[in-house]
Amino acid sequence: MYLRCSNPDCAARVEGQDRALQCPRCGDLLELALGVPLLDPEVLKRMWLERRCSFDPRDGSGVWRFREFLPGPYAPDEVVTLGEGNVPLVPAGKTAAWCGLKALGFKHLGWNPTGCFKDLGMTVGITDAKHRGAREVACASTGNTAASMAAYAARAGIKARVYLPAGAVSTNKLAQSLDYGAEIEEVEGNFDRALQVVLASAGPELYFLNSINPYRIEGQKTAIFSLLEQLQWRPPDYIVLPGGNLGNTAAFGKALAELKANGFIEKVPRLIVIQAEGANPLARAWKAKSEELQPMAEPETEATAIRIGSPRSWNKALRALRFTDGMVADVSDEEISEAKAMIGRDGIGCEPASATTLAGLRKLRCRGALGSDATVVAMLTGHALKDTDYIARRQATVQVAAGVCVAPRMERAVQWK
Ligand code: F0G
Repeated sequence: MYLRCSNPDCAARVEGQDRALQCPRCGDLLELALGVPLLDPEVLKRMWLERRCSFDPRDGSGVWRFREFLPGPYAPDEVVTLGEGNVPLVPAGKTAAWCGLKALGFKHLGWNPTGCFKDLGMTVGITDAKHRGAREVACASTGNTAASMAAYAARAGIKARVYLPAGAVSTNKLAQSLDYGAEIEEVEGNFDRALQVVLASAGPELYFLNSINPYRIEGQKTAIFSLLEQLQWRPPDYIVLPGGNLGNTAAFGKALAELKANGFIEKVPRLIVIQAEGANPLARAWKAKSEELQPMAEPETEATAIRIGSPRSWNKALRALRFTDGMVADVSDEEISEAKAMIGRDGIGCEPASATTLAGLRKLRCRGALGSDATVVAMLTGHALKDTDYIARRQATVQVAAGVCVAPRMERAVQWK
């Protein structure tokens, strides 16, 4: 295992700088190059399933169960786990019809220990921090990364410092960081500014845990492993996820590339990234077919988790989208609220940022960008209780439009009421 530049045109190998985040040659983000697993894919698939019956705490984690594709080796008692990753794939009921799809499933990553997908990466990030003897970890956050880091750091006995944009984090997420005992620094400005501040403050003694940390990305990859296992390794046509700082898009792309290269899957599902209209630098660049991302100085959306104007993993995400022949779209705050209500009415619920997935799917279906027969999994990234102020403010009055998209390119209208 070693660190290398994530840009394949550079691919510089980085030696002797275990905590480096950027390529010293070209400045792009680093990634971990792991050894190819020695076992046959079918043998590994069976072993991963069998581990579900094991009492080893690593096997009880839906992340470490897939450790052949994770960094390490770490001693079993070094692994900091809260039993994360074992979340269900829930078939969408009337929600599927609402966005004109016959086969839609929600993988609810919000049903992780701290209510968010961040736990998948944090168990690996904090394990690595502990392995290296770090005494303090830090991150900038719109709330979820902070809560997750605070919880796992508390388990590991490491001090946690979180940098949050002042007044722009939901009370529930802030409460979690407080509860887990993190030290909180409020930064004037948005998430992008908070990230600048924490990066500037990082000294050699501080272990840094935003998603530009390549160890975190490795853990987040396992959302794809467990999804494909749940589908008996028959990939869906599309996997949809919200886009903020774009670490998760990078992780999903890396997972799919590794699974394909090692013979676990033949077909690669297409990634669809959905952003909020007010914080949509990737969607804009995608529409303009631009190679350059124009950062947004004042990103604005009520889906505060993804209120990000300058996504750091943009290059990695673009490569993931190209590799999977993906798509990008953006949705308004009204569309997010309506989609969130729909997910709630299906008895599932999620936080606003997660509802971008359904809102985006409906929009893409209405445009005819995907057919009603497509098999689709939407990743719900955060729990419904992550932003209860939003629910009180918005969801009491939201009207969910009856019926389905009425666009002319829709082959078949599916009634949901
Ligand atoms: N969904 C939720 C619920 C999130 O909290 C985030 C990011 C995203 C989606 C976007 O993921 O950044 O990998 O593209 N939250 C970060 C945080 C920024 O600080 O909690 P991404």
